[in-house]
Amino acid sequence: MLPLNGGTGFSIMNGMQQLLPSLPGPIGVFDSGYGGLTILNEIRTRLPQYDFIYLGDNARTPYGTRSFDIVYEFTLQAVRKLFELGCHLVILACNTASAKALRSIQMHDLPKLDPARRVLGVIRPTVECIGDLTRTRHIGILGTSGTIRSESYVMEVRKLFPDIEVHGQACPMWVPLVEYNEAAGEGADYFIQKYIHALLEQDERIDTVILGCTHYPLLLPKIKKYMPDGISIVSQGELVARSLEDYLARHPEMEARCTRHGQCTYFTTESEEKFAESASTFLNQTIQVNHLDL
Ligand code: DGL
Repeated sequence: MLPLNGGTGFSIMNGMQQLLPSLPGPIGVFDSGYGGLTILNEIRTRLPQYDFIYLGDNARTPYGTRSFDIVYEFTLQAVRKLFELGCHLVILACNTASAKALRSIQMHDLPKLDPARRVLGVIRPTVECIGDLTRTRHIGILGTSGTIRSESYVMEVRKLFPDIEVHGQACPMWVPLVEYNEAAGEGADYFIQKYIHALLEQDERIDTVILGCTHYPLLLPKIKKYMPDGISIVSQGELVARSLEDYLARHPEMEARCTRHGQCTYFTTESEEKFAESASTFLNQTIQVNHLDL
């Protein structure tokens, strides 16, 4: 297991008696469940030298149907835990958490917890690439109900590319298909066709579709099967990995606080065995998992 940075070098932040390890540590990757493993995979392929802690809140997944306040509360608990475990940089590898909690955490909580630590999301790095991909300037987003309702993608696209029209479609059955290992099952076809059809019905000029949920790459073979030819499908993992590499290059002070032994430690809020079994579908390898409570 990764040598976690918990033994020495604690600092008290802002007189709040918030004890956080100050020595360099792993990069934290958080998701409500298994979906963030698709992001972790790409990050580790691009940046194999760094150490990572993956935390999946499987006991409380899915987040996609939960209220803003609850997603914020759960995500903040996870970020705190990852800081306590020694992370200085945390990636919310979950669109729902990025949409509903990231901004509040960055604005209200980080200054109190430790202004030098950073929490980054997955929406901005995904949207940044979209300007070069769409020719028609009409794009679609598939995501959880929470992500679509938050309009985070619409707002982010508007900021960066005001000429692009965005349509969102919630796919509430897709995360359960992945979480219950039914991604390749016959039942999946019905729901995959249903939401793709509902999205494309909104605007026939859509030529680019963002998979705005970290679980969806696991459904990619079937999504490709039902997506009409000529429509590009954008998966986030590689974009987020590239953006993190760029972030670390631009922030040497943060890079210096990330340890490099090429290791990853996995935590789940559910059963270790269950996580290890399902995670092997995402990672194609057997892993050691630890339980923790948030
Ligand atoms: N993987 C999460 C995302 O990217 C959603 C899963 C959930 O609903 O918890 O939005």
